[in-house]
Amino acid sequence: MARLTSRLLGLTQLLAVLGAVNGYVEMFSGLQARQINPGQLAAAYDYIVVGGGHSGLVIANRLSEDSGRSVLVVEYGYFDNNPAQVEPASATQYLARNLFNLSSVAQPGIGNRQGQVYAASVVGGGSTVNGMLFDRGSAEDYDIWERLGNPGWGWAGLLPYFKKSTTFTPPSPELTREYNITWDIEGAYGNGPIQATFPDWQWPGIKIQWKAWAEVGMPINIEGAAGDAFGAYWVPSNVDQQYRRSYARNGYWDPAANRANLKLLTGYRVNEVLFNANKRAESVTIQERGSANGAPTITVRATQEIILCAGWLHTPQILQRSGVGPRALLQQAGINVVADLPGVGSNLQDHPVSRAGFQYQTDVVPNPGSLNSNATFRTWADQQWQQRKGQWVLVMRWSPPRFPS
Ligand SMILES: Cc1cc2nc3c(=O)[nH]c(=O)nc-3n(C[C@H](O)[C@H](O)[C@H](O)COP(=O)(O)OP(=O)(O)OC[C@H]3O[C@@H](n4cnc5c(N)ncnc54)[C@H](O)[C@@H]3O)c2cc1C
Ligand SMILES: *[C@@H]1O[C@H](CO)[C@@H](O)[C@H](O)[C@H]1NC(C)=O
Ligand SMILES: *[C@@H]1O[C@H](CO)[C@@H](O)[C@H](O)[C@H]1NC(C)=O
Ligand SMILES: *[C@@H]1O[C@H](CO)[C@@H](O)[C@H](O)[C@H]1NC(C)=O
Repeated sequence: MARLTSRLLGLTQLLAVLGAVNGYVEMFSGLQARQINPGQLAAAYDYIVVGGGHSGLVIANRLSEDSGRSVLVVEYGYFDNNPAQVEPASATQYLARNLFNLSSVAQPGIGNRQGQVYAASVVGGGSTVNGMLFDRGSAEDYDIWERLGNPGWGWAGLLPYFKKSTTFTPPSPELTREYNITWDIEGAYGNGPIQATFPDWQWPGIKIQWKAWAEVGMPINIEGAAGDAFGAYWVPSNVDQQYRRSYARNGYWDPAANRANLKLLTGYRVNEVLFNANKRAESVTIQERGSANGAPTITVRATQEIILCAGWLHTPQILQRSGVGPRALLQQAGINVVADLPGVGSNLQDHPVSRAGFQYQTDVVPNPGSLNSNATFRTWADQQWQQRKGQWVLVMRWSPPRFPS
């Protein structure tokens, strides 16, 4: 009895939450014509995309260009329709429900400290919550993937696709000259839906910092996204000309949202991929977000392919749950082994972030602190932002120096 009551209570709370969410969603229903509820699921689709995040929305867009193919995207997160989502401040103010927030295992290299590890859980994935720093790995990073036995996944194979995604718009010639801002359109960009640019105002202290980098012998790069992602270089932001977030949702989902052959189910988790006797992936089981262990699941079939786009954290998890992973681990968890692949769930390379703070003996004004200390400057800055010129857009960053060993 106690159990039943608590279940009913859970359901009531859930309905209340759903009501609130639906109210929010309806305001934007024009953009979400292809969003379905579980009752509208077909038994089978040509393609099932697992995860409607950064890569999932791109893949779903490209696959559904052919109106003869049916595509289902299953996304654990919900839409975030808060208008602030596309403002630069969204890069630092997260809604809890938009993020998986985990602790790492103890890291021996930093005195066994644990790190906070984030992964997106929202339509658009990392592109919806990230810092909008438009950056790539170095050519060598991708070439190593290729050398591990993945033809076409090296730098030369991927660069045309990288370029295809993004249009770069240069800042004003005056600002470019004053700050010596550099980029390489030919080497890094194309004419895709994602927009990248620099804000048309910079903090003056940056000039001194550049001089310092040069003095200490830091290699200076013209462009970081053209294969040499090391040393000091200017990093654009993925924002449009009004400095609004340019991401998978407005670049790849919204333009495709009215395709009748494309469906998106939000608030559902893919638990596992089911294989047939020939080890061909045939279907997925899905379960409502927040529902209890053992709650009902729905099975949806794919007649062509199942494409895992659940990100670095959950794609390996889904594979392991599906019986693809290290044999000993799967057996320990009571999972039938479909393929013994020891690398699944290992060898993650993340990019650690560290910051260095400096106390200037002679401060350069204006600096970011002036926004709080100088009302005149603050007023000017607010006006700039109203006119969409602002410096709120993160301006630049240096990747850690990587010298050849
Ligand atoms: C806080 C933060 C800041 C970042 N800043 C930057 C930056 O400034 N510049 C930069 O280049 N990169 C940045 N990144 C990294 C970048 O955003 C990610 O590398 C990229 O978005 C990953 O894309 P993805 O498609 O692999 O995964 P994601 O975009 O994470 O998509 C995975 C999706 O799958 C969903 N999902 C997970 N499990 C399941 C399941 N079982 N069933 C259904 N759906 C599931 C998730 O909800 C998610 O939406 C940042 C990341 C974070 C989290
Ligand atoms: C993540 O969780 C930690 C502690 O569990 C908390 O301190 C932190 O604020 C959380 N971060 C976000 C963005 O919610
Ligand atoms: C401007 O940047 C380029 C490329 O980084 C560099 O070669 C040049 O020396 C810089 N010029 C000035 C005046 O800083
Ligand atoms: C405050 O900002 C204004 C406008 O940028 C500037 O002219 C003034 O010198 C600043 N005052 C101080 C004390 O820094």
